[in-house]
Amino acid sequence: RLSRSLSISSLSGLPLWKEESLPVQDLLLFEVSWEVTNKVGGIYTVIQTKAKITVDEWGENYIMMGPYYEHNFKTQVEKCEPPNQAIKAAMDSLINNGSQVHFGRWLIEGSPYVILFDIGAAAWNLDRWKGDLWNACSIGLPYHDREANDSLIFGSLVAWFFKELTDQLQDKPNVIAHFHEWQAGTGLLLSHFRKIPLATIFTTHATLLGRYLCAGNADFYNNLDKFNIDREAGERQIYHRYCLERAAVHCAHVFTTVSQITAVEANHMLHRQPDVVTPNGLNVRKFSAMHEFQNLHSMNKAKIQEFVRGHFYGHLDFDLEKTLFFFIAGRYEFSNKGADLFLESLSRLNYLLRVHKSDVTVVVFFIMPAKTNNFNVESLKGQAVRKQLWDTAQFVKEKFGKRLYESLLRGEIPDMSKILDRDDFTIMKRAIYGTQRHSLPPVTTHNMLDDSTDPILMKVCSLLCLMPIVFHPEFLSSTSPLLPMDYEEFVRGCHLGVFPSYYEPWGYTPGECTVMGIPSVTTNLSGFGCFMEEHVSDPSEYGIYIVDRRFRSADESCNQLTQFMFSFCQQSRRQRIIQRNRTERLSDLLDWRYLGRFYMYARHLALSRSFPSEFKMDHLNIAPVSPTQGFRYPRPSSVPPSPSASLHSTPHHSDEEDDDTYDEEEEAERDRQNIKAPFTLGAEPEG
Ligand code: UDP
Ligand code: G6P
Ligand code: GLC
Repeated sequence: RLSRSLSISSLSGLPLWKEESLPVQDLLLFEVSWEVTNKVGGIYTVIQTKAKITVDEWGENYIMMGPYYEHNFKTQVEKCEPPNQAIKAAMDSLINNGSQVHFGRWLIEGSPYVILFDIGAAAWNLDRWKGDLWNACSIGLPYHDREANDSLIFGSLVAWFFKELTDQLQDKPNVIAHFHEWQAGTGLLLSHFRKIPLATIFTTHATLLGRYLCAGNADFYNNLDKFNIDREAGERQIYHRYCLERAAVHCAHVFTTVSQITAVEANHMLHRQPDVVTPNGLNVRKFSAMHEFQNLHSMNKAKIQEFVRGHFYGHLDFDLEKTLFFFIAGRYEFSNKGADLFLESLSRLNYLLRVHKSDVTVVVFFIMPAKTNNFNVESLKGQAVRKQLWDTAQFVKEKFGKRLYESLLRGEIPDMSKILDRDDFTIMKRAIYGTQRHSLPPVTTHNMLDDSTDPILMKVCSLLCLMPIVFHPEFLSSTSPLLPMDYEEFVRGCHLGVFPSYYEPWGYTPGECTVMGIPSVTTNLSGFGCFMEEHVSDPSEYGIYIVDRRFRSADESCNQLTQFMFSFCQQSRRQRIIQRNRTERLSDLLDWRYLGRFYMYARHLALSRSFPSEFKMDHLNIAPVSPTQGFRYPRPSSVPPSPSASLHSTPHHSDEEDDDTYDEEEEAERDRQNIKAPFTLGAEPEG
C-alpha cells in the first residue's frame, strides 16, 4: 500500500501523501463547470471522461452542475428525481423563487447526476446580482459582455443553491465543491463571500491573460515575469473577467491546474502557485486483441477515402493507396493552436515531396469550428457525384453478373466484349460526364460567414500550397450528410494528428490520438507534450513528435515540423503499423485510473484546509510542484520504426509495403517486460 502511494507521489509533483480513501458516505462532491453537458472544448472532455472513475468512488454522492440548454438536455440527459432530500429541497427553494433548475442523469459512461441551471430564465435577476457581486468584492461587469454576465447568473444560482443546501444539511455531510475555469469561478467567489461552509477547489485550464497574450503574438514565455498584468488585462478589455478569475483562484481552498507549464504561467498571471497539478486523463478502452484498433484504422480510413473521392472528384490524380491523411482539430485559435505553423510547414513539405519525387500524397484536414451557414453546394455535389458513380457501377455490375451467370448456366463463356450493351455504355458515359469539373475542389466544406478575413483561408491563398486541403469549419458528427463520421472514427482513420500549439495548457487532441494508436505531433509548449517528454525516454519512437517551440526560432520550429512530417511520409506501411502499435502502448500513462489520483489528492487537501478538525493529512508541507523523478517509459526494444532513425538506404522498399505480418505481439511482450505498469516503477520503499 505504502509502496504504491510512495511511487505515485514522487511523480508529477504530488507531495508524499499516504493514500487514504475518504469517507464518501459522509460527504457530497459537486463539480461545477460551464461545459457539463455543454461541449465547447477540452474541459468537456475532462468532465465527461473523468465521470466514470469519480462515480465509481463516490456513487450517488457525486453531482455535476452546469448550464441548462434545452437541446443538450433532451439529447444527453435523462430526467429523474434527486435521490437526496436536501438536494431536492434546495432545488425547490430556487424553483419556488422563480428560477428553473433541472435534475437528471447525464447519459455518458458512469451516468453521473447533473443539476442544470437555466441561465436565460434567471436573467431578470442580473442587475441585482451585479450589485451583489459589487458589494461582495467590488467587481463590476459591463453590460455588453454576455459571457461574463452569463457567468454571473450561473455563479449566483450555484451559490444560492449551496446556501440552501448547506442550511438543510447543517454540519453533515460535508460538501466539497470543485469549480472549473473562470466561468464557474463566480459561484466559488460568491460562496466564499457568503461564508457558505464548503471545501472549495478551483481548477484553471488556462489563464485568460495567457490565452490573450499568446494570441496577440507576445513573446509570452520569455516575458512571463515582466508583464504588467493589470494593464494588459485592461488594454484587452478583459479586466473584469480577469478579476473574476483571479478572485476565484485566491478564494479557493485548493488551486489546481492541468500541467506544470500552466502552473508556472498561473503563478505569474494570477499570482498564486497551484497546490496540485492534475494532468488530464482519458477513459482508455482496451481491446482484447491487439490488431483490433488496427482494423478500426483500416475501416475508418476507408470512410475518409470515400469522402476524398467525392470531394476531389475530377481531380483525383493521386493514388489513394499511397495517400496519407494528416489533420489538426480543436477550437479555432489560429496561432495558439499552431495552425499558422502547420500551414507554413505544409508548404515546405510539399516542396520536399516534389523535390524527392515522392509518390506519396498528403491530404490535410482542418477541423476547427468557425461561423458558417451550412455546407456549400460544391462539397455536397462532390459527394452526390461520387454516390452516382458508385450506384452506376453497382447497377452495371448487377447486370454484368446476371448475364455472366446465365451464360455459365448454359455452359458457355460469354464474349466479354458483348456482355454489356449500348445502354450500359451510355449510362457509364453519362456518369463519367457528370464527374467533369471546371473548377478546383473547394478548400472549405461550408459557406463561411467571414471567408474574406478567415486566417486559414488567407494563409492557404498566400502560400499557394498545392496540397489537397480540406477545411471543415465545424466539429464532426456521424449524422453529417457530407462526412458522416464522429470525431473518434475520423481520428482512427487518419495517419497523423498535427497539433503544433503555441498556447496549450494541456491539449487533449494528441492524447486522444495516442490512446487510439494514431501518431501525433505536439510541442514542448503544451502540457501534454511536456508530460510525455517527462515520462517517455524517446517519445518519437512511440509516435509522439514534440516540436521545440520554446528554445528555437519560429523558422527552426517550422523546419523541425516539416522534417517530422517528411520523415513520416517516407515510412513504409509496415513501419506505420509498427509505430501505431507502439503509440497505443502509451495509453496506460493517460488513463484516469492513474491520473484520477491527483484529483483525489486535491479533495483531501481541500477538506483538510476547510474542515481541519475533521480531516487531517500528513506531509502537507512538502513542496507540491516538485521536480519529477521516477517512472519513464524506456525506448522500445526492437527495430525503431521512427522514420528518421529507420530510413532504408533506398527510398523505395515496396516489397514490404503491404507486409502486415510483423510480429507485433512479440515486440509488445518484450516491451511489457521492460515497462511494467506506469506509476509503479522505480520507487520501491527502502527497507
Ligand atoms: N473535438 C471534438 N470534435 C471534433 C474536434 C475536436 O469533439 O470534431 C474535441 C476533441 O475530442 C478534444 C477537444 O475537442 O477533446 C479539444 O480539446 P483540447 O484540450 O485539445 O483543446 P481546447 O479546445 O480545450 O483548447
Ligand atoms: C491496419 C490494418 C492493415 C492495413 C493497415 C494500413 O494495420 O490492420 O490491414 O494494411 O492498417 O495502414 P496504413 O498506414 O497504410 O493506413
Ligand atoms: C483548455 C485548454 C486545453 C486543455 C483543456 C482541458 O481548453 O486550452 O489545452 O486541454 O482546457 O484541460
